[in-house]
Amino acid sequence: MTSITDTFLHYQAPEKLLQDKIILVTGAGDGIGKVAALSFAQHGATVVLLGRTLSKLERVYDEIESLGGPQPAIFPMNLEGAGEHEYQAMHDTLNEEFGRLDGILFNAAQLGPRTPIANYAFSEWQKVLQVNVTSPFLMVKSMLPLLNQSQSASILFTGSSVGRTGRAYWGGYAVSKAATENLMQILADEYESSSHIRVNSINPGAVRTKMRATAYPAENPGTVTDPHSIMNRYLYLMGDDSRAVNGQQFDAQPKA
Ligand SMILES: NC(=O)c1ccc[n+]([C@@H]2O[C@H](COP(=O)([O-])OP(=O)(O)OC[C@H]3O[C@@H](n4cnc5c(N)ncnc54)[C@H](OP(=O)(O)O)[C@@H]3O)[C@@H](O)[C@H]2O)c1
Repeated sequence: MTSITDTFLHYQAPEKLLQDKIILVTGAGDGIGKVAALSFAQHGATVVLLGRTLSKLERVYDEIESLGGPQPAIFPMNLEGAGEHEYQAMHDTLNEEFGRLDGILFNAAQLGPRTPIANYAFSEWQKVLQVNVTSPFLMVKSMLPLLNQSQSASILFTGSSVGRTGRAYWGGYAVSKAATENLMQILADEYESSSHIRVNSINPGAVRTKMRATAYPAENPGTVTDPHSIMNRYLYLMGDDSRAVNGQQFDAQPKA
């Protein structure tokens, strides 16, 4: 029998996998989030592009339009400073515009300083935890009424190997990713008996982005996986072929 992991790793998304779906992607202006937003749109989704740099979101918007994807929406937002009021306003805007959400990819994150705990600045700790874990908590809480309007909604969090086992100098980032996995498990358990909301996480593994280059400045980027090559795995978890999958932690690039 094929395991969920095998299905995930070998998945090839049909062209119209996400037809008519409304999917929110955080950190959609750059890196993995940008490629995921483009890929979701290419597979038929109307994508809500959320990020803090408007010019980057506009470029992704233009790329989606030139690829002939459904017209996306742009939602500029700095997750560092946003509070409950902003998430409620976001809910109201999306409710008015779409009336539901069929998926959220929680992808935006801050790396923060790579330094020993002894030197880790409290202000940096707060910022990293705010963007990486408090913001997804506030956002998912506010968006649940919209996800509840979907016939089949996927909530996908982004993990990291340092969130599974802590490692020296990864500080608040590693702690935030461990907390993210836990938030995923709590929600998955709370929606276990729901037939229309599933919650999982994906650890992309080493992927060629700005964050990776900042974390590993001496690494040759040419040796690191291109985000496009892991997109079928994101598509699997966002599309209805993973409808029965809930509460799982996936590794997009498992160690051999
Ligand atoms: N790349 C890897 O090797 C790797 C490995 C394991 C896990 N991950 C995880 O994968 C996800 C994507 O990482 P990536 O490598 O693609 O990172 P990235 O290239 O740094 O992109 C991160 C995105 O998040 C946005 N963002 C950051 N802070 C924000 C804020 N305060 N408000 C709104 N948006 C904000 C950024 O916006 P701006 O462009 O405007 O800065 C950017 O679009 C993250 O959750 C990361 O932890 C990555």
